[in-house]
Amino acid sequence: MSSVGAAWRLARAGWIMVREGVIAAVPGDELRGLPKLGWRIARLFTRRRAKSKVRSDRLAAAVARLGPSYVKLGQFLATRPDVVGNDIALDLARLQDRMATFPMADAVTAVEGSLGRTISDLYLSFGGPVAAASIAQVHPAEVAGPAGPRKVAVKVIRPGVRVDFMRDLESYFLAARLQERFMPSSRRLQPVKVTETLAQTTKIEMDLRLEAAALSELAENTRDDPGFRVPAVDWERTGRDVVTMEWIDGVKMNDVAGLAAAGHDLEAIAAALVQSFLRHTLRDGFFHADMHPGNLFVEADGTIVAVDLGISGRLGKKERRFLAEILYGFITRDYRRVADVHFEAGYVPRSHDPAAFAQAIRAIGEPIHGQPAETISMARLLTLLFEVTELFDMEARPELVLLQKTMVVVEGVARTLDPHFNMWKTAEPVVGQWIRENLGPRALLVDARDGASALLSLARQAPDLAARTERLSREIDAMAENGLRFDAATARAIGKAEARASRWGRVALWVIAVALVWIAWQAG
Ligand SMILES: Nc1ncnc2c1ncn2[C@@H]1O[C@H](COP(=O)(O)OP(=O)(O)O)[C@@H](O)[C@H]1O
Ligand SMILES: [Mg+2]
Repeated sequence: MSSVGAAWRLARAGWIMVREGVIAAVPGDELRGLPKLGWRIARLFTRRRAKSKVRSDRLAAAVARLGPSYVKLGQFLATRPDVVGNDIALDLARLQDRMATFPMADAVTAVEGSLGRTISDLYLSFGGPVAAASIAQVHPAEVAGPAGPRKVAVKVIRPGVRVDFMRDLESYFLAARLQERFMPSSRRLQPVKVTETLAQTTKIEMDLRLEAAALSELAENTRDDPGFRVPAVDWERTGRDVVTMEWIDGVKMNDVAGLAAAGHDLEAIAAALVQSFLRHTLRDGFFHADMHPGNLFVEADGTIVAVDLGISGRLGKKERRFLAEILYGFITRDYRRVADVHFEAGYVPRSHDPAAFAQAIRAIGEPIHGQPAETISMARLLTLLFEVTELFDMEARPELVLLQKTMVVVEGVARTLDPHFNMWKTAEPVVGQWIRENLGPRALLVDARDGASALLSLARQAPDLAARTERLSREIDAMAENGLRFDAATARAIGKAEARASRWGRVALWVIAVALVWIAWQAG
């Protein structure tokens, strides 16, 4: 029964996309057979009005008709260029998540239902909505505090959005299954799995307790950091459908003129923003993944306050090291190293030739050298890199793609604030510190000078050590699990090592190994 409904809604969605010219705007040259026929027919049925529009406007029109779940689908696919292609991902990223507000009465019902108390019991006053998006809207309110009334922001889930989304999700799964069945070429992209990820991230976004928890985690991580914070959560007034937090007074970062008028140092704010983001990413492995300027306030004293933590990203230790090594490899023009890192992390199948892969990476890196630093974008570099890695069958790493997307946004905001923004120089103190503390002994940085050269001089030595430490610790782990092995393979390996190294060489190897274990233990 439900799958009939799902099929019907999918057909309807398909029809709307045909009419708004979305299907016709998909590049059809690479299609063959039935899909190509479908695409040709879709072009015939495109509304005349849609034909004069560019693709991003066609998408916006279709999504507006399809409703909130499709906004989420679009935003999600914008983070998956590996699935939809780069051009379409860019168009999807332009989709605006702004919708008409829903009535006060509905918001009050949602708050009271979620928290089990009356609105007047919860708040001294509860104002009309200030902003509305597909999933939620925000109301200003006041609560009683020890020092008199305190202003708060109350974010409330749009009524019915959860039910709508679950229903539309059935259609998405149906579409994904059809795709896997009838388009063998799409199987590599695992449409069903992609849809599962969408379901997961959106369910998280629709539970505001989790947004509150993300705010609280980021607050804890950044407690001692200068220049950046997030609003404090009022847990007593937070539930699945509502989160109450400290009201933030400040100028939004999309109001550059307003920031200048308030006397803020725009260059300092740009630097603080990028450094904060990198610190969260590298140090904590937990970052705000929706850092567009509409979600960023600057307070009177210059502190940046980020709101809207519905989407956050996590990077494990392995991904953080991968990232640091890649940046290091590009800076030192060690393309072979950048290539090797991909193989070591297991991201690119061993069947590919490292030398050919390094060549492709050189094609990205070389044009960048010799350019003035302030024109080189770290985000663009990563974007190009992911394009190349895709050619070498690198499996999609959603957490890295999310990071790269966020970096595009953060760097973009920094450049609107400071047209001469130098990403590498700004990044160096944070990336350098991370490498120093995680990939090698502190002493390596002592002779470091300014800008990228600091990163360069210490990174030249560090990642190699780190890779070796990691391999070694893996081996030690394996030994701890399986006991010390002494089989034919081990004996052969030792034999080879014997043949290569002199006695003192072997002793030195062991000293290094012990030192590395010690460093790893200290850093851990
Ligand atoms: N703590 C806050 N203090 C002041 N204004 C806020 C606060 N939280 C949200 N807002 C306002 O509400 C808008 C929407 O909230 P946000 O959390 O960004 O939700 P959405 O997911 O709808 O973008 C923000 O852009 C901001 O203008
Ligand atoms: Mg927002």
